[in-house]
Amino acid sequence: MPTPSPRRGSLLWLLPIAVILAALALLFAWVGGWIGNRNVTPQAMINTAEAAGPLHPGFRRAHSKGICIIGTFAPTSAAAKLSTARVFSQASTPVLGRFSNPGSDPYSPDNKAAIRGMALQLKTDDGQEWRVAMNSFPFFASATPEGFQAMNAAKLPDPATGKPAPEKMKAVLARYPEIANFMAWAKSAPTPDSLANTRFNGVNAFRLTDAQGTQRAVRWSMRPHTPFVAADPEQLKTADRDYLAADLDRRLAAGPLQWDMVMQLAAPGDPIEDPSQAWPDTRPETTVGTLTLVRAEPQINGPCLDLNFDPLILPKGIAGTDDPVLHARSSVYSVSFNRREQEISQGKANHGSAR
Ligand code: HEM
Repeated sequence: MPTPSPRRGSLLWLLPIAVILAALALLFAWVGGWIGNRNVTPQAMINTAEAAGPLHPGFRRAHSKGICIIGTFAPTSAAAKLSTARVFSQASTPVLGRFSNPGSDPYSPDNKAAIRGMALQLKTDDGQEWRVAMNSFPFFASATPEGFQAMNAAKLPDPATGKPAPEKMKAVLARYPEIANFMAWAKSAPTPDSLANTRFNGVNAFRLTDAQGTQRAVRWSMRPHTPFVAADPEQLKTADRDYLAADLDRRLAAGPLQWDMVMQLAAPGDPIEDPSQAWPDTRPETTVGTLTLVRAEPQINGPCLDLNFDPLILPKGIAGTDDPVLHARSSVYSVSFNRREQEISQGKANHGSAR
């Protein structure tokens, strides 16, 4: 039997020390919040959203200001080739949705909202549901929930000065550099002058399954039939607090408003699980249907007030991906929903004069 060389023997002797050092390094990384999701529980994310301003009981903790919308979705013949979802074979599906402004203030003036949201609930005749929540930005601020939470925490006022501490945001940008791309977009993108001519983007990727079982990763967007007009920054300064709702009512009184739902298909190597990276515009696209909106209603006492547009409520034929932001959204929306519904059921909701 060969005797171990003295050299190999000394390495084996070092092994337990290396294991202890590695365990200590992991422990420090965990305590420091550098690994694991310990610092980004859904509750912590909602607590940070609540800390951004006065609490408005009974309202969503984000996208608090909103308008209910009612209409239908009609698929194209190309849709059923991509997915077996019933919504793509049924001639028309009723839609209940909500336009929203980001932020936690249900009274925020519309001219402060450069970003807008569109959420939809599509219920098909087989009892299945598809809930969708999109925004007008073309990609998300961060690749991970940790980055988003760090960014929102850095925006909170420092107790010492009452203002956000610039060095906190600097540290966040150093650690999550993708957030700088989003900030650059937000600074330069023109604001549409109406909800009717706003394009809304799903940003997270999903998987469509066709009748043969083939799966394709896609990102969807809603593209308005109403031509884009940029808001005039001077007129915006004096715009009415609720000018978006007034504009929507005016346009709907003149006739329905439409958006095409377009699926962008991923190519091999595209970042499926990172919503902060747009896919190239050259990727193939398929229009899968048209959304027609016929009516809008104030959210207070409206049919969308008590809905949670959880983006993981999906019909057969459409599945989520492992994008960590998508999964965080589902659990964070649920915490927001439970808090606001509890306030309503305990009589603590204060819907005040909000629309
Ligand atoms: C980790 C990332 C995100 C967090 C923590 C977050 C958080 C929230 C919260 C707390 C709500 C209110 C939920 C409720 O009470 O029903 C909300 C609503 C909403 N979010 Fe997000 N969000 C995230 C990412 C996104 C992304 C990527 C999009 C779109 C591309 C998006 C679009 C929307 C829209 C449109 C609504 C309003 C839905 C409605 O009308 O009820 N969010 N979000």
